[in-house]
Amino acid sequence: MEALLALDQGTSSSRAMVFGRDGRLLAVAQRELTQHFPQPGWVEHDANEIWEGQIACAREAVAKTGVKVAAIGITNQRETVVLWDRKTGEPIHKALVWQDRRTAAFCEDLKRQGLEPRVRELTGLVLDPYFSATKLRWLLDQVPGARARAERGELAFGTVDSWLLWKLTGGKVHATDASNASRTLLFDIHRGDWSEELLSLFGIPRALLPEVRPSAGMYGQAAEFGVPISGIAGDQQAALFGQAALQPGQAKNTYGTGCFLLMHTGTQARTSTQGLLTTRAAQLDATPQYALEGSVFVGGAVVQWLRDGLHAIGASSEVQALALSVPDAGGVMFVPAFAGLGAPYWRADARGALLGLTRGTTQAHIARAALESIAFQSAAVLSAMNADVGAAERLTALPSSGVAQLKELRVDGGASANDLLMQFQADLLGIPVLRPKVIETTALGAALLAGIGAGVYASADEIGAIWQLDRAFEPCMSRDEAAARLAQWDKAVRQVLAA
Ligand code: G3P
Repeated sequence: MEALLALDQGTSSSRAMVFGRDGRLLAVAQRELTQHFPQPGWVEHDANEIWEGQIACAREAVAKTGVKVAAIGITNQRETVVLWDRKTGEPIHKALVWQDRRTAAFCEDLKRQGLEPRVRELTGLVLDPYFSATKLRWLLDQVPGARARAERGELAFGTVDSWLLWKLTGGKVHATDASNASRTLLFDIHRGDWSEELLSLFGIPRALLPEVRPSAGMYGQAAEFGVPISGIAGDQQAALFGQAALQPGQAKNTYGTGCFLLMHTGTQARTSTQGLLTTRAAQLDATPQYALEGSVFVGGAVVQWLRDGLHAIGASSEVQALALSVPDAGGVMFVPAFAGLGAPYWRADARGALLGLTRGTTQAHIARAALESIAFQSAAVLSAMNADVGAAERLTALPSSGVAQLKELRVDGGASANDLLMQFQADLLGIPVLRPKVIETTALGAALLAGIGAGVYASADEIGAIWQLDRAFEPCMSRDEAAARLAQWDKAVRQVLAA
């Protein structure tokens, strides 16, 4: 039996999963990852802990199944910056995580200089600390000697995929895939190459950068396992692939640390007027593939905060029971802008708020409002996406390109297991929410990409048959009530933005 090993390096944990050729999950191993918060708004990871946790999970998952693995796929938290010494392989600083806001003032400065439209045109992104470039610049400027070493070619930059690939190949391969490159603010998504203009704008020496390759193909050999690494994609693009959303107009929402709603737009890069990003989807060869993305910074992380910050629950799995112990959130609105607000608001300076508290408010109401906030934020993104697509439909007389307002939404990620949340999501959106049997779609997508890259699957046509429905959540709430709830959310967000 041919099996595929996926390394899924997420923000909250490192995981390894072994899948059968038929997409069945055969084994999982997981390690939680330490979060470092050295200052308010700063978030760091230890890149060595990432590597050690990830390789330990890989060994454990492979040992659990005892099957022969044919190839390895890597998928990862995107945008996070690792900078290491090419000779020693040692990181020169902790990794700066995508949620880190330390470069907010610099981004504002660039915006004031009127540079955002050009950056957006080249990268499909906005000027926000979320993306890699300003974090990399911060490291080059703040770590003594780093810039000079970078210019001499002694250092290597990578998002977490590159870092893991480097470690797995014993320092032989320094590469990334187009989906990860497209999150750096340094990659021209139309030409498919690093942009000299952006490298000079952000002050990044080219010698630091990895080679950019398609998401499926032979990257190198993982000596320890004796098999190739043949698939790489950023976690959200891998999830889109794992959801078999390969055609224009197909979309998914992943409920991980954050929530990321992506719609495939085929070989066309579509520009958003509603605060969404244009990004590279996973690509099997040199032909670029694109997606529209709405990125929500705090999704499942709000449950982690209930556990670790508020101590309202002992384990994340307890949140549904606590939320269900009250009939509703009792008028509480929770805007979890712990790391600013992403799409469609893009306000790096926003901070979280709990609104509508009374003497009757309990932890259960807060837990319910926390879960609801995940669905509210995703609904705001979906409405932006529908507005973008609707505008494009009105403007173009072309026969349908497949991109249209969403009639259903595929979901995945840890928090998609929560029935209460999925039902509320369907109620707010007014469309069915489809949960597949395998909700670890990010890892599945990486495994499938690796399978294609290593020739285990002849083509992407085989992928569609692997997707299987677990449950469809049909909307039950009246549209009037949903509109009233969404208006309450908008009001709460406005209050946060005005604060
Ligand atoms: O862009 C950030 C994203 O890749 C993080 O994903 O799964 O760790 O929430 P996750």
